[in-house]
Amino acid sequence: MFRSKIIGTGSYAPAKIMTNHDLEEIISTSDHWIAERTGIRERRIASKNEATSDLAAIAAERALEYAGLDPMELDLIVVATSTPDMVFPSTACIVQDKIGARRAAAFDISAACSGFIYALAVGDQYVRSGTFSSVLIIGAEVMSRIIDWTDRGTCILFGDGAGAVVLKRGRVDSGILSTHLHSDGALWDLIHVPGGGSRIPPSIDVLERKLNCIKMKGSETFKVAVRTLADAAWEALKANNLRPSDLDLLIPHQANMRIIKAVVEKLEIRMDKVVMNLDRFGNTSAASIPMALDEAAREGRIREGNFILMEGFGGGLTWGSAMVKW
Ligand code: COA
Repeated sequence: MFRSKIIGTGSYAPAKIMTNHDLEEIISTSDHWIAERTGIRERRIASKNEATSDLAAIAAERALEYAGLDPMELDLIVVATSTPDMVFPSTACIVQDKIGARRAAAFDISAACSGFIYALAVGDQYVRSGTFSSVLIIGAEVMSRIIDWTDRGTCILFGDGAGAVVLKRGRVDSGILSTHLHSDGALWDLIHVPGGGSRIPPSIDVLERKLNCIKMKGSETFKVAVRTLADAAWEALKANNLRPSDLDLLIPHQANMRIIKAVVEKLEIRMDKVVMNLDRFGNTSAASIPMALDEAAREGRIREGNFILMEGFGGGLTWGSAMVKW
């Protein structure tokens, strides 16, 4: 029996910073309102010539360097994204080419903001089964391309970025202890991008009505997020015979500070055990958890033997968790 160990992390955020004050110039909002309701103060925006695979490749190279792994050793690359470079080929194939991982199989996963947890679970299964030994998991998004910059209910929330981890087959006493994935397709319309696919193909009407952009039922999504994140945490803790106080770090999807605080209150976890970077990056969808993990790892907040719970939720509706013993 094998387990997957996270042997490297990496992340990348585009250089351009968009602050809440910048948003005040384009929509009717205020820094105070956004900071109070979401905890977000600024987000990064990709430049015109940066696509998702560009962000993903930099995060991947940083994770490989951290791991000390040659790209040619990779067996599999999985990219979680809702903003792929193209309809096809997959963004993972484009990343494979950019980083020179010529031996690897590569594919994308679509699970919106839960994408990284889904991709991590898939990669973990390949390692546990003994099929693959070295796997690269990436969450990467250029959300700014699917945002309606006139919709103040959504444009304040999202940002661009990428995060990556390298999984390596390892001993059974540490690594990814468990993953749990869930979906409820009946709630598909809470947060979605209606146009541009086979249901409503691209057209001038799609662009005029901004159907190629995110539509969200904000307050309903908020309530479901708190419930699913709390349930996912309890499920992961129970499966590993752990109590909330046993956790060294909680890395939740960085959607909204109030959602995270509500979940933390339910679990009675100390706030200093929670990794939060949404004040600087906003909600980077599938990139948010690996970006936060990388920041924590590089700041020295993670020690060998630590119990780390990562959990996400997002469009689909999808949610899930990964419990790691570092
Ligand atoms: N600036 C100022 N006012 C705003 C605003 C903005 N950016 N966005 C909405 N408002 C206004 C609304 O128009 C409304 O005004 P009204 O009372 O005069 O009608 C008021 O603020 C309250 O709106 P509401 O939508 O109820 O606010 P909220 O407290 O639910 O906060 C969100 C809105 C989007 C911040 C919040 O619902 C949220 O974060 N939901 C979860 C979204 C999420 O995480 N999505 C990603 C899932 S992965």
